[in-house]
Amino acid sequence: MRHNFLGMYRTHNCGELRKENIGQKVQLAGWVQRIRDKGSIKWIDLRDKFGITQLILEEGKCDGNILKTASELGREYVIQTEGEVVERYSKNPDIQTGDIEIRPNTLKVLSVSKTPPFTIEEESDGGEELRMKYRYLDLRRPPLQNNLQLRHKMLQETRRALDEFGFMEIETPFLIKSTPEGARDYVVPSRLHEGEFYALPQSPQTFKQLLMISGYDKYFQIVRCFRDEDLRADRQPEFTQIDCEMSFVEIRDVMDTFEALVSRLFKTVLDLELPAFEQLSYADSMRRFGNDRPDTRFGMELCHLNDLTQGKGFKVFDNAEAVIGIPFTGGGSYSRKQIDALTDWVKRPQIGAMGLVYVKYVDGELKSSVDKFFSKEELAGWMEKAEAGPDDMLLILAGEKARTLFAASELRLELGSRLGLRKPGEFKPLWVYDFPMFEWDEEEKRFNAIHHPFTSPKDNQEQLWEKDPGSLLANAYDMVINGVEVGGGSIRIHRRDMQELVFKALGFSKEEAEEKFGFLMEALEYGAPPHGGIAFGFDRLCALMGGADSIRDFIAFPKNNSARDVMLNSPSGISPKQLDELSLEISQGSKSS
Ligand code: AMO
Repeated sequence: MRHNFLGMYRTHNCGELRKENIGQKVQLAGWVQRIRDKGSIKWIDLRDKFGITQLILEEGKCDGNILKTASELGREYVIQTEGEVVERYSKNPDIQTGDIEIRPNTLKVLSVSKTPPFTIEEESDGGEELRMKYRYLDLRRPPLQNNLQLRHKMLQETRRALDEFGFMEIETPFLIKSTPEGARDYVVPSRLHEGEFYALPQSPQTFKQLLMISGYDKYFQIVRCFRDEDLRADRQPEFTQIDCEMSFVEIRDVMDTFEALVSRLFKTVLDLELPAFEQLSYADSMRRFGNDRPDTRFGMELCHLNDLTQGKGFKVFDNAEAVIGIPFTGGGSYSRKQIDALTDWVKRPQIGAMGLVYVKYVDGELKSSVDKFFSKEELAGWMEKAEAGPDDMLLILAGEKARTLFAASELRLELGSRLGLRKPGEFKPLWVYDFPMFEWDEEEKRFNAIHHPFTSPKDNQEQLWEKDPGSLLANAYDMVINGVEVGGGSIRIHRRDMQELVFKALGFSKEEAEEKFGFLMEALEYGAPPHGGIAFGFDRLCALMGGADSIRDFIAFPKNNSARDVMLNSPSGISPKQLDELSLEISQGSKSS
């Protein structure tokens, strides 16, 4: 029998030969990573997905034809060799095959290679854009191979676990009608229906609800979603969700199920026990951390200082909607220059603060950038409230509430990073719940759904619908780990009258609601079970578990920051014939090919 489905070209892969194999005749195939030439001796590093094995070619001990072939090799040539496993004279403890090397009896070039545009090793010398253009070469590098291996393990384990939990995998269509999830749709023109368009799903939300109405009880799908939105390190125009829905459940049931799933993924893929999941209301999360996806690996929680700081004549505080302090652990030793640099940091447009006030001890005495306006006792009162000790520095931001919370949250994270408190191997999972139903859109002068319009409101809030829809709370929840929103979901509306009420609150006319979601509202009239679910950002979960910020490194063929595939050069124009078939005209200046 041949070895492990390796095929006819090889008996072993490049990562598996050990001391025990010494003396064996083996066949290997792979890519030439590096050639070292010491005149009478040549070493070739032969690489494949599994590792690197060294070949040794010595004048006098090696056939002349082999030496000739070897002298013509270049980086990334694909070769096959047959030879004997021998013990290395000088071992390499850094690689698993470091005890042995191969003395080839044959050497055959299977494929030549142009000189690659960057080095294909652990660390590459190529820039991001170049590596994206030659993604198939970048993907040969071990870090990317490891990332995709992790992704593969996650996919397999997710399927295994959800199957065991009683979920059924069902595929839903990609050519659909728009589902509002807060982003713009990617649209696909229809050839058969002139002037009409499909939309690619931002998520399978409405389909999974219909499947519950169809009685499938528990559904899941590992599914591509498409969103035309501004890109960041943790966003791609097409990304993958683990999308799930369950019937006859309340929030606690959904949380229990998916704590079990995520804990199992961490255990099987990383061999890590996750700590217990904390639960934090949206309001508490905003108050304590300034955002709805807190990184709780470290403290330095925000302290609200309005009542202690206002009405003392300092205009910046007096006119502010929010005055927020951050107790910077150990920051007491910061010099004036360092504080100035931090002030510049918060004033950058990405953070948007107007300035930064500090309070700290200098030679045993409290000093502050605002000590003209406040007494030592007052400053001491702020330090005490913020739980800032004698070695710490209290940093204070003030201004309009939402902006100040944002800036304070960003500053807290920055300080946490500077202090090394956001440790890569540590994971702190939690749920954020009790999100508001709606947020006011000042530009459009109407409410938007914070989660999506199919999320049910919490019970007993009837009086708020008319009076103050902005303060209605939703049965929605997010799973957050280390400041990353890895998943979000809700208990859904399962009654037509409630769904109509929500559409109305979102400013949909009856006709608009009917035109867009008539199918769902009608389905709700045919016996819809109470149901709820969640979707995980699969790429984000992989990146988090792989210890990276960018999800791009966990997607085989991602888009760049401007939503472009630089390898395919897409998006691109289409031919006049295609345009014609689709009954599309393009305006002057647009591209066609
Ligand atoms: P939501 O819009 O919160 O919910 O999306 C679920 C999760 O998907 C991830 N995510 C993304 N990942 C990469 N790139 C993007 N552009 C991107 N956008 C979102 C996030 C997010 O938590 N249908 C609902 C789920 C439900 O209610 O069950 C939905 O899609 O990790």
